[in-house]
Amino acid sequence: MSGEQDPKQISGTYAANLVEDRMAVGLGTGSTARFAILRLGERVKEGLNIIAIPTSEASAKLATELGIKLVGFNDVTHLDITIDGADEIDPDFNMLKGGGGALLREKIVASLTKRQICIVDPNKAVEKLGKFPLPVEVVKFGWEVVARRIEEIGGKYKVRQRDGENYVTDNGNFILDCDFYPIENPPELEKAIKMLPGVVEVGLFINMAHTLIMGHPSGECTVRERA
Ligand code: 5RP
Repeated sequence: MSGEQDPKQISGTYAANLVEDRMAVGLGTGSTARFAILRLGERVKEGLNIIAIPTSEASAKLATELGIKLVGFNDVTHLDITIDGADEIDPDFNMLKGGGGALLREKIVASLTKRQICIVDPNKAVEKLGKFPLPVEVVKFGWEVVARRIEEIGGKYKVRQRDGENYVTDNGNFILDCDFYPIENPPELEKAIKMLPGVVEVGLFINMAHTLIMGHPSGECTVRERA
């Protein structure tokens, strides 16, 4: 028996335990965020009083099943904490996100958040972003035009597939998974891609993470605050 624990569960649970009574909480998407939502559900059953905004239909469904009270953007002006995963995070806390396809809602929610907590396992920490393909959410109309522009600015793309069809996001759009590795200047690339007509969002999250919580198989967590 190795006795190793799941680092995703360790980081997700740790982050969920930071949530306090009466907070407005952003609920991330993905296998790491799922552990945070599960722990929040337990805490709500024990009496924790929170309201939450989910970043995907999947997280909304899970939260509802667990009895976490969901609200809309008319009900809150900001979120105290959002707990969300990342596909990669660099030493400056720039994140690459959207492997789960929820980048647009995740970025809107992050933009309202006072303390964005990034929960990861050790594989997600990288020196330079971009080995994980960069998700770019594009409207269906004219996506081919965006794809050509992506190539013109130095990227390669694949249209994300699911079950042999183009993957469709919760917002009804396609995703181009783009290879720009190594991304030397994440803020510049984010701006360049967002300028392309037809792009809805790009999975580069700059200056958005405040706290990094990394779970380890030993069961320990490393917690770092952005400088
Ligand atoms: C979803 C995301 C996720 O945070 C990211 O893909 C990490 O997922 P996981 O926790 O399953 O590794 O950005 O759009």
